[in-house]
Amino acid sequence: MTSSADAAVEVIGLTKDFGATRALDQATFDVARGEIFGLLGPNGAGKTTTMRILLTLLMPTAGTARVAGYDVTTDPVAVRERVGWVPQGHAVDPLLTVMENMTFMAGLYHLAPAAARRRADQLAQLAGLAGCANDVAKDLSGGTRRKLELAMSLMSVPAVLFLDEPTTGLDIAARRDLWAYVRQISGDGTTIMLTTHYLEEADALCDRVAIIDRGRIQATGAPGELKITYQASTLDDVFLAATGQELVA
Ligand SMILES: Nc1ncnc2c1ncn2[C@@H]1O[C@H](COP(=O)(O)OP(=O)(O)OP(=O)(O)O)[C@@H](O)[C@H]1O
Ligand SMILES: [Mg+2]
Repeated sequence: MTSSADAAVEVIGLTKDFGATRALDQATFDVARGEIFGLLGPNGAGKTTTMRILLTLLMPTAGTARVAGYDVTTDPVAVRERVGWVPQGHAVDPLLTVMENMTFMAGLYHLAPAAARRRADQLAQLAGLAGCANDVAKDLSGGTRRKLELAMSLMSVPAVLFLDEPTTGLDIAARRDLWAYVRQISGDGTTIMLTTHYLEEADALCDRVAIIDRGRIQATGAPGELKITYQASTLDDVFLAATGQELVA
């Protein structure tokens, strides 16, 4: 399926120790260009750690990782020019309006004011934020705020976009709106790697997923393939089997 020639992300034997804690243990997987890829696992499994290494925010202890063809350790600047990130938690300035947040982010990417305004207008349309462009961010609902965070991360048109729990806390309608938005971004050619604890979301949205537990990759594949392999009817059951957890009735 995936060969390194068309991989957007390649992770080989990636290991990260925090003192005595091994957060990531010989993780190996790849993400094809244009894919929506889900990294799934229990709390503390190593998902955010993996993303932070791929974003060049953390140095690995061992192993290699390439993003958009560039090594995260030896070529971090080239990687940073090609990635976008929506972190776990909030990344907007609550006192600025929707449009001000977007143009502020454009400034960080050194866009000239006119280009920044054009891009911000375009993204506001794409994300369904045009109607609230002048609202102050602290007054937005959680779903609208998450859309704004996503729009801000797209200011630079990243080759690879990392979304850490983009829909946590959103109601089902807001989540589905966000899925549609993520699919649209993917359709425009951006590779997307996301984490989620909602496995039906991963099933609906992801071309392939990796299940990680205590820093180790336990399974990788398309949700449909994994269900066949694990003889499971849902991704929840695949997850429980792959992470050695029992379903409590
Ligand atoms: N900066 C840090 N210093 C020390 N330990 C850390 C640090 N960051 C993460 N860890 C540890 O590494 C492990 C993996 O954490 P990580 O945040 O990657 O998990 P996660 O899969 O994203 O979990 P969650 O689903 O709760 O977000 C955990 O044991 C965590 O306590
Ligand atoms: Mg996390």
